[in-house]
Amino acid sequence: MTQAAAANAQSTIDELRALLGERLSTSNGVRDHHSKDESWHIPHRPDAVAFPNSTEEVSQIVTICARHKTPVVAYGTGTSLEGAVIPEHGGIVIDLVNFDQVLQVNAEDLDVTVQARVTRKQLNEHIRDLGLFFPIDPGADASLGGMAATRASGTNAVRYGTMRENVLALTVVLADGRVIRTSRRARKSAAGYDLTRLFVGSEGTLGIITEVTLRLYGIPEAMAAAVCSFDSLEGAIDTVIQTIQLGIPVARIELLDDVQMDAVNRFSKLDYPVKDTLFVEFHGTEAGVKEQAELVEAIAGENGGGQFKWATKPEDRTQLWTARHDVTYANKALRPGCEIWATDVCVPISRLAECILESKKDLAESFLIAPLVGHVGDGNFHLGFLIDRNDPKEIAEAERLNERLVMRALAMDGTCTGEHGIGLGKMKFLTAEHGEAVSVMRAVKKALDPLGIMNPGKIFTM
Ligand code: LAC
Ligand code: ZN
Repeated sequence: MTQAAAANAQSTIDELRALLGERLSTSNGVRDHHSKDESWHIPHRPDAVAFPNSTEEVSQIVTICARHKTPVVAYGTGTSLEGAVIPEHGGIVIDLVNFDQVLQVNAEDLDVTVQARVTRKQLNEHIRDLGLFFPIDPGADASLGGMAATRASGTNAVRYGTMRENVLALTVVLADGRVIRTSRRARKSAAGYDLTRLFVGSEGTLGIITEVTLRLYGIPEAMAAAVCSFDSLEGAIDTVIQTIQLGIPVARIELLDDVQMDAVNRFSKLDYPVKDTLFVEFHGTEAGVKEQAELVEAIAGENGGGQFKWATKPEDRTQLWTARHDVTYANKALRPGCEIWATDVCVPISRLAECILESKKDLAESFLIAPLVGHVGDGNFHLGFLIDRNDPKEIAEAERLNERLVMRALAMDGTCTGEHGIGLGKMKFLTAEHGEAVSVMRAVKKALDPLGIMNPGKIFTM
């Protein structure tokens, strides 16, 4: 940091201390806690961490930071897998931990407004007795503000969409301290630019999301989940492709390869066959679920799938999906002390088999180990490289394999990131993916954050 930047950071801290008192921390422990996420990216400490209580206070904090050109990074649960919350340039982390209230449930309209740090599980607990649920489920119990900021998805996206489809409106604090609400609760609107979708996925580079209005869904009359092991990876993938192409409205269809199944069995104390496996789930009426299940079971049978092992009782379904959601933690446990480098390509469904099989071939020729798990109904899958981030040889190999994977996906008209975001790790692929469109993104960034204080060093450099 230059001397001028250090002096500015100190002025910012002095003014924030006057505003927040004890709710500003410069302790090493607190700064360390806010220096990292759940990815392999190298931590970097902020200068201080602020704990505001209201949107008004976030606005005041950002206004002070703008005056001194101090970087600002919003923090939810710290569960990003691509470095999104690492304060690369120091500055102030705004921890939204006090934004934990469900503000307004409109059961009759099937929507809800929450403060940004309410997590997906907290929301679902809050609305369960109303017969409602919110489907978007990244592995971690992430905050809904962070999920909006990174355009997160998860296992239900094949049926219910991602945060892009499920955020109705946002309250956002802009880089100059202005507070806006991007939309009303109407299910559709043709009024002006779609700022909601601009902020969804902007990863804190355009503003700080403090409130989120979301779509809700009625809990289906019937839900059934099943596990099916396959003789070959091709058979499992072809089952997925045929299911999607036939338009069977599966709620979830997830692929775990044999390496991933082994990790899941160990971590979650289960005893599934260590084979390439699909986890599927059906939602609907009793009759609808039965019909969908029979169709998919038949398709699986034709592709070398074994019998479905059903989980219909709520506690069995929960156990199954908890094991699935915990894969990142299961993978970490495979190699104590390792970090996870999770790839995240997504391709059109017709190219999925080719993309996965070529990537597995690359992996077979490498010394790195990476379980494969994926939201394959969307054409999205992850390789979780288990790496020692202090070993340059491992980093270089993960980089090489990831680059081949991303270029393969882009050549198939896919994307470098289906759900984890650009953060730090995918910045170098953004131009390869979007070309001239990146210059338009830069123009938007300049217009909304001319001083470049909002989560600097993420998505692209200025
Ligand atoms: C998952 C994370 C890695 O799918 O996105 O579990
Ligand atoms: Zn995922």
